Amino acid sequence: MKTVQSLIFGAAGLLAVSCQQNAVPKMEFVSHGDTMAIQITSPTKYLLLPIQEDQPDVWVKLNTGNDEDDVWMDVRLARETVDYYVPFALTDGAEARVDVMHLPADAVAWNNFQLSDTFDTTNREYYRPLYHFTPAYGWMNDPNGMTYFNGEYHLFFQYNPYGSKWGNMHWGHAVSKDMIHWEQLDPAISRDKYGQIFSGSSYIARLPEGAEGTDPFEADVLVPGNGTEGDFIASYYTSENNNLPRELQEQQSFAISTDGGRTYRKFGEPRLATNGPRDFRDPKLFWNDLRGEWGMIVSADKEMQFYGSKNLRDWTYLSAFGDGYGVQPRQFECPDFFVLPVEPENPDAKMTREQKAKWVMIVNVNPGCWFGGSASQYFTGEFDGTTFKCDNQKETVKWLDWGKDHYAAVTFSCEPKGRIIAMPWMSNWQYANDLPTRQYRSQMGMARQLFAFQSGKEVYVGQRPVEEMQSILKPASVEVSADCVKLGNEDAPVCIDFDIKNGSAVTVSNDDEEFVYIACRGGRILMDRQKSGIIPTQDFACETWSPVPELGINSGTWAPVEQLCGKKDSYHVQLWLDRCSVEMFVEGGKATMTNLVFPKTPYNKISGEGMSNVQVRNISL
Ligand code: FRU
Repeated sequence: MKTVQSLIFGAAGLLAVSCQQNAVPKMEFVSHGDTMAIQITSPTKYLLLPIQEDQPDVWVKLNTGNDEDDVWMDVRLARETVDYYVPFALTDGAEARVDVMHLPADAVAWNNFQLSDTFDTTNREYYRPLYHFTPAYGWMNDPNGMTYFNGEYHLFFQYNPYGSKWGNMHWGHAVSKDMIHWEQLDPAISRDKYGQIFSGSSYIARLPEGAEGTDPFEADVLVPGNGTEGDFIASYYTSENNNLPRELQEQQSFAISTDGGRTYRKFGEPRLATNGPRDFRDPKLFWNDLRGEWGMIVSADKEMQFYGSKNLRDWTYLSAFGDGYGVQPRQFECPDFFVLPVEPENPDAKMTREQKAKWVMIVNVNPGCWFGGSASQYFTGEFDGTTFKCDNQKETVKWLDWGKDHYAAVTFSCEPKGRIIAMPWMSNWQYANDLPTRQYRSQMGMARQLFAFQSGKEVYVGQRPVEEMQSILKPASVEVSADCVKLGNEDAPVCIDFDIKNGSAVTVSNDDEEFVYIACRGGRILMDRQKSGIIPTQDFACETWSPVPELGINSGTWAPVEQLCGKKDSYHVQLWLDRCSVEMFVEGGKATMTNLVFPKTPYNKISGEGMSNVQVRNISL
């Protein structure tokens, strides 16, 4: 058997012969103890890395000679067969060096590295959504750092550019004018020597009057931006590093961008370490008007902790909330904190100041939620600038969405119209890594405007598609026969409005006998996707969650529609379908349900006895 060296030197040698004549780039493999260096002369823009998804990670590093700052990335390099390639950016100049560790000698990757100035991102995926954000390639989870700045909505996101499974967290970046058409840019914040770049947030800040010219990292005070020159994006994220002592494994780090998030300057050393729990992450910045300073809410195991700062650099602990509240199977993650005006149940009712507006704390929880896996919970209450007091008893549980694919939902800061707009990651940690796409994995839910409303004695938070979504709805000519509406053009996803009668059911289906089942009974509205198409894992089918056998509810997810929207003979439903998702908004978003589906062919009809006033519109960008 050939040794690795001779095999790979062989491959490189062949390349070298043809390369020298044409002065094209060439690769050579040089062993340095347990590290193999890929030595590249006249480097192209990228080294294309061959990936095999079911293989373990090995280490790959761009070796710039700066030992302290060069970072190993975890990459599933191909051992038996190449699933796809990802680009690994090389340095400019006459030479570049990429180090590889732990890859066995007989791995096929050794013969399949490629040098290239381009990387083809043409879509290869049948299920790639039309109007939901997906990265061109690679893995994505939580939305991060969402803010509005200089005419652009910014969506940063948990991103692995080196494969379509979780790992190497960077902040990916995309911008949009309307939260529908997104342009993906280069990753904004890359994994560094302090660790992976976990979730976090952004806020527009500036130096106070009189302090112009000071380095913002050295200013005594920073204030919220005012929409003029000098504003910058201030971002906080968690630096995650399991190799450090427990109390330093998750720390909060500070970075600023003066060019609209295209590039960041990092503060360097993280700014805030835990006061106890190992899990201490996902900082959300807000302006705490009640104290005239910056606020930060951070998840700390089964609590959310509040901190305050004048300069966004030095933080003081204020309080904690959450111990024993709501659903706490494991840990709180990805917090958010904001005020919402409350829409009264009876518009003529007199409301006290406390009733007119509520502080809302979003707490994403994983795993072990009611629907299985991950879900977004929230609490409503009062905040005095230091402490949050929840309106409810500890046992009360309020979900922001009642489907299986709504997680890590957080909101945009500095939204120009003052709207509170959230975006969920449309997946679930139970199966996110196993979904049937490869070029990329995961999509965001559509942008939703949050509102608070009263129902009975309770205040709830609802979500409706942002008004911008109306611009992509186009009239559709549909065929209507008794109890069945044909959805028309198979290439255009659709938005369907209808009323569902209490005690009845409808199905959205295709000609392959795949369907999504929606039923309304016993004060609940149910969505069942067991027969919806490809079922990637058992958890996805959701067979056992919270059955109500006396109502014939044995699978699927359901929302207590009567509790949220009052008792009615029928409820209004709006369904937004895309290539692989159904987002359901009941009664204007008082109950929502977000679920992925993977039908073999697009659903092309909706049928059932219990529906009336059906309206279908095509969705086209
Ligand atoms: C939530 C989460 C966050 C963490 C990130 C890592 O989905 O677990 O708590 O920052 O994902 O990618």
